[in-house]
Amino acid sequence: MNGITYDYMEDYIRGLLPENSGVLNELRSFAEKKNVPIVQKETARFLELMVSIQKPRKILELGTAIGYSAILMSEALNNKVDITSIERDTNMIAEAEKNFAKYGFDNINILQGDALEVLENLNEKYDLIFMDAGKGHYNHFLPNCLRLLSEEGIIIADNVLFRGMVANNDLLKRRKITIVKRMRKYLEEVNADSDLITSVIPMGDGIAVTRRRLKL
Ligand SMILES: C[S@@+](CC[C@H](N)C(=O)[O-])C[C@H]1O[C@@H](n2cnc3c(N)ncnc32)[C@H](O)[C@@H]1O
Repeated sequence: MNGITYDYMEDYIRGLLPENSGVLNELRSFAEKKNVPIVQKETARFLELMVSIQKPRKILELGTAIGYSAILMSEALNNKVDITSIERDTNMIAEAEKNFAKYGFDNINILQGDALEVLENLNEKYDLIFMDAGKGHYNHFLPNCLRLLSEEGIIIADNVLFRGMVANNDLLKRRKITIVKRMRKYLEEVNADSDLITSVIPMGDGIAVTRRRLKL
């Protein structure tokens, strides 16, 4: 068990996935070598699928790292999408910008800074928001993400079960208590809000997909 699912299940599902194409393969190898956290393989596939169903024209990402998930989403849409990605670490930004330039992704732009502050200053609408930064702040990001979400947009939040700690106190490490409490708050809020519909999926590190309920 990895806290979320059985190892044999994860291995089996990962074994079904074909290797990524050139650029994504290179970036995943780089991330593994340099210990940069990027979306897990099955989460990457899920993201690719959601993007191809949703067909967003504008995506907002929280947490660029080296640009892996941004490139994955862009490629899934034949690059017919504008992606804005927020990142606070300048070394990551330099690496991601190098990758975007090297592989010609001029449709992906990085906003430098803490997502909490950057979000405050955004005013455009996004058809898909991918939350993958600052696990201890998802509940704080939520009001602005909902403000920025287009009417039929979706929010995909990664790491919501955080190695199982969010669901099971026996797994909880003392130094992670604040993050876990806030993540629970996020999940409680998106589930309790009658205007929203959310599904929590025990895949990878836990994924929550949220959208507004249809007004029929
Ligand atoms: C898990 S990584 C993102 C991985 C990326 N989405 C991918 O799968 O390729 C999280 C990134 O978020 C950044 N980060 C963490 N907290 C942040 C915050 N409050 N504001 C902006 N960036 C943050 C970290 O520097 C890190 O690069």
